[in-house]
Formats: sequence, C-alpha cells, structure tokens
Amino acid sequence: MKRQPRSSPRSGKTRRTVSIIGTGSYVPEKILTNADLMRMVDTSDEWITTRTGIKERRIAAKDEHTSDMATKAALAAMEQAGVSAKEIDLILLATATPDMMFPSTACLVQTKLGATKAACLDISAACAGFLFAIEIAQQFITSHTYETVLVIGAEKLSSITNWNDRNTCVLFGDGAGAAVLRHRGSAHGVIATHVGSDGTYADILFMPGGGCRTPITLENADKNLQTIHMSGKDVYKQAVIAMLAASKTVLGQAGLTIDDIACVIPHQANLRIIEAIADRLKIPLDRFYVNLDRYGNTSAAAVAIALDEANRTGRIKSGDYILMVVFGGGLTWASTVIEW
Ligand code: UT7
Repeated sequence: MKRQPRSSPRSGKTRRTVSIIGTGSYVPEKILTNADLMRMVDTSDEWITTRTGIKERRIAAKDEHTSDMATKAALAAMEQAGVSAKEIDLILLATATPDMMFPSTACLVQTKLGATKAACLDISAACAGFLFAIEIAQQFITSHTYETVLVIGAEKLSSITNWNDRNTCVLFGDGAGAAVLRHRGSAHGVIATHVGSDGTYADILFMPGGGCRTPITLENADKNLQTIHMSGKDVYKQAVIAMLAASKTVLGQAGLTIDDIACVIPHQANLRIIEAIADRLKIPLDRFYVNLDRYGNTSAAAVAIALDEANRTGRIKSGDYILMVVFGGGLTWASTVIEW
C-alpha cells in the first residue's frame, strides 16, 4: 500500500500544495561525440565512457545563447501547462552562464516570451540552481505572493569551457529545461525541499575570471581564467557526500523512505557518482533517470531536462513519489520530493 507522507515540518498542515503543471526542455542540434573530442585533446572514448558514462553532448550555435535555449524550454513547459505568458508572475532562471553579467537572463527571457507582468531574476547556485529555484518558487506560491511561477535551468557551458583542457572539456554540454509551478488544489505536488551550501569549498569548482575580483583583460584571457576550473577528485568526493545527505534529509522531511520513491532524478554529472549514491541508498540503478550519456553535464539545466524527459516518456506517472537531488559548485546542494 502506498504510504502517506506527513506534511513538511516547515510548512505545517495548512500549506498550499505546489504542483509542477508542465515541463519542457531544449537541447541544441549540434552533437559533439567522444570521437570528436579525441581529435581535439589527448583522450579516448574508453576513458570518457568508463570514467563518466558520457558518450556525447550538445553544443549551442555561436549565435544561440542561454536566453534562447531557456525560452524554447519555457515555451514547451508553458504549452504543456496550458499557461500563457501573461499569466506568469515570476521567472526564476538558474544559470552559471548568463547571456551577460546584467541584466539578468530571466529579464531577457521575459521579453522573448512577452511575460509582461512577471518579476524576473537569475539564481546563482551552479549545478544546484534549478532545485534552489523550485524551492524559492514554492515559497512564493505557498505564501500566496504569486500564483504562477516559471522556473528554468539553462546553460551554455561551451562558452566557459577550456577546449584545450581534457580534465574538463569532455564533461560539459549545453541545454535548457523548464517547469511551470502553480497551486493546483490537489494533493499532488512538492512534499519537501532541502537546500544547503558550504562556501569553504568554493575553490574546487569555479570560474575565477569575469567578476570584479579578476575582470576580463587580455592578460587574464590568456590564462584561461574565464573558463571552468575544477579539482575533479575533490568534487567527486563532495558530490557523493552531499547528494547522499541531501537525499536522506529530504526523505526524512517527507516522512518517506527510499523504497517509496518510484524514480530518482539526480544531477547528471557522472554515472559513477550516481552508481555510488544508488549503492549507498541500497536501491537498484534502474530506479534512477539517467541521460548524461547523451548530454553530458549541463549544470543547472541537467535535472530540468531529465525531469522533462522522464515526464514526457511516461517514466514518471501521476501519483509516483519522485526524488530530485543535485550538487554543484559553491558548494551547493538541494533535494526535492514530489508526488507527481
Ligand atoms: O556538476 C559538478 C561538476 N563536476 C563533476 O561532477 C566532476 C566530478 N569528478 C569527476 O567526475 C571525476 O573526478 C573526473 C571524471 C573529472 C575524473 O575522473 P578521475 O577518475 O577522478 O580521474 P583523475 O582526475 O584522477 O585522472 C586520472 C588520470 C590522470 O592521469 P594520470 O595523472 O593518472 O597520468 C588524468 O590526467 O586520467 C587523466 N585524464 C584523462 N585521460 C584521458 C583526465 N582527463 C582525461 C581525459 N582523457 N579526458
């Protein structure tokens, strides 16, 4: 028999249920395979596949920016939700690769959509950004501040990748995913959310250039400071620790166990990280939705694209409990349990 979750300790019995009423995603046409990368850096399909599980990733066109991909994902989510641009109260866009430092990419998406009444802001929480945005959206809807929130995770990581660095360039890709959230009046919706950060690990995954500390100059550009810098082994270790803890915390808040979860949608960074979490949670790998073989790590977009695919392919069904859990630079981590 299906277990009934208890209501979130933070929100109490009178909380408004917040539902994801539509999802959408977009990935660019251009495919970059492991074989293509072998012609660019000293690597092999065997190394990339066994160390990461990635086979190919998508790369945006030169004139295709984060806001363009975000808009396409948003339109698909809005169409599925049956929500028009004019109904959107708030646009939250999670990204580490905004079109520019300011205005926010969310503002640029607002204009492309014609979502004239929406308040707009970007969320900076690296790969964890989409679930941070879901948490914020939920708070605004639960508090009756807004009715309809558009949440987007979108990245053009190819624009901050050092294509000469084999340690990082094989990992990342471009794309966008989106969800429309609203109070639906049924029990189905977000049951529990958890977010966390630890800035003491800021230097294991970061982009040093481009901010006020290291502005873009010719000299800094030569040092590749405007690209991703990562200590892979440290990130790997922290990713497993943080995603495992975040999964257990949110399940506890929801009053559920891992056995109640029909589908886990994790951050799509490395298949070995997902296998390690499956092993420690003691559930089979096939309970996880995995698409990193096709897209690589698309940071804030990854879990959003995976959620849309799981939704549209019927991998998640009405009434299923799903667990989403992510990890990113910062460090940041987040987890959400939803009754679909
Ligand atoms: O959203 C979060 C973003 N980041 C992550 O999630 C990354 C988490 N970390 C990882 O996924 C893994 O640490 C990596 C996939 C990045 C690396 O795997 P690893 O098993 O930790 O390899 P390593 O860094 O210890 O490197 C092992 C060897 C090194 O050679 P030596 O020093 O042993 O001779 C690397 O130079 O593999 C070498 N190497 C490569 N060889 C072929 C590193 N990158 C490559 C490559 N092709 N692309």
